[in-house]
Amino acid sequence: MCPPSSNVHQKEEASTSTLKSLVGVLSLTSIGLLVGVIVLATQQSGGDAPATVVPDVATEEVSSLSQEERSLTAFMESKATSAFFAEAEDNTCAGKKIALDNDLCVNMEVAPQAGANVTKGYVGGLEVGELAPNTKPYYQSSMCPVNVHWHLGSEHYSAGEYDENGDGPHGNQPRPDWAQRERDLAEGKVRDGFRCNHYDAADEKFTKEYDWKYCEGMEVGETYEVHWPHSAAGACGTVNQYQTPFYDGVFCNLNMETLVTLQAQDIANAVGVHGQVFTIVNDEEYFYPDLIRGMLVDGEHGQDMAIYTGSTTGTSRSNEVCSSYTPITWQVDRKCHMISASSFDKMCYDMKMQRDDMSGDLHAHGSRELVHDKYVANNQYDKATRE
Ligand SMILES: *[C@@H]1O[C@H](CO)[C@@H](O)[C@H](O)[C@H]1NC(C)=O
Repeated sequence: MCPPSSNVHQKEEASTSTLKSLVGVLSLTSIGLLVGVIVLATQQSGGDAPATVVPDVATEEVSSLSQEERSLTAFMESKATSAFFAEAEDNTCAGKKIALDNDLCVNMEVAPQAGANVTKGYVGGLEVGELAPNTKPYYQSSMCPVNVHWHLGSEHYSAGEYDENGDGPHGNQPRPDWAQRERDLAEGKVRDGFRCNHYDAADEKFTKEYDWKYCEGMEVGETYEVHWPHSAAGACGTVNQYQTPFYDGVFCNLNMETLVTLQAQDIANAVGVHGQVFTIVNDEEYFYPDLIRGMLVDGEHGQDMAIYTGSTTGTSRSNEVCSSYTPITWQVDRKCHMISASSFDKMCYDMKMQRDDMSGDLHAHGSRELVHDKYVANNQYDKATRE
């Protein structure tokens, strides 16, 4: 009995070869398709790189934004629905400011004021005895930054860096004439301070407008003095560390009962401000990504420091009306630095991501007029020469 195996085998062979050729044709076809896709992709991307797939976005407005802007916008939208920001009571520093009224300077006994002349060699005219500023880096005294804010022009004065010879898109302040100094301010204008000497109207980086997204009312070419108030009584290392008004942060873990027991030197040791002056440029070579964290200490930044005891500043204080928040330590960078507008806008974005509402500090504040010698402490410490 011979099974019709050979016949079957032949049939099998026939169908196998048909399959084989079919597979061959198909694979050739797919290679052809693949080549077609590659050619198309290469044509689309101009031959540089494969075209990236951008998912459809809901609105026209959003689709006109770059990838990077789209994610920042999305983070702002997430903030609006986040439970982290929902309950105002969760901010343990809210309302912790201890209100101390301004007073007439002549009524105040030994209450040194800021911002002063910080030029090397300058010594104030107010005898403060043994009172000394805290000359160490603030973190070494358990202090942390509790806020960042800035003033239009500089409140301090550093000869050759930010003084009456500086310039900007709106000019500068004259050298103070303390005998009769009351600058008339146009309605709605804030009092401005001194400008740095970097500005050059012929150089585009000082004049090219920047598309500000998070800071308010800022201008390329202008000079701003940035302040980082620090406090050992701040909510250091917690989500409530940064506060507006900054007094909420300074006093977060301090009450009036404890405050009145403190000596002047205790306060100067535990509360300090870093001050650094910048001219804004539209040039990414000057981008610094983390300005909310504190004064820049790197290379020339934060090197030539003036250190003294003073007070809080701002336009509600003058040479007649003084601040009662004194004596606190001031560490001020004598040099004026250039910084990109994007560095400030990034800082404003970060401020908007803090738990506390910092919207009151997204614009420049006015500047106090330069403090008269007779209200400036005579305890200047020159880091460069005494260390
Ligand atoms: C600031 O101090 C320096 C050094 O003592 C001095 O030369 C300069 O005139 C002072 N500037 C003002 C405005 O008082």
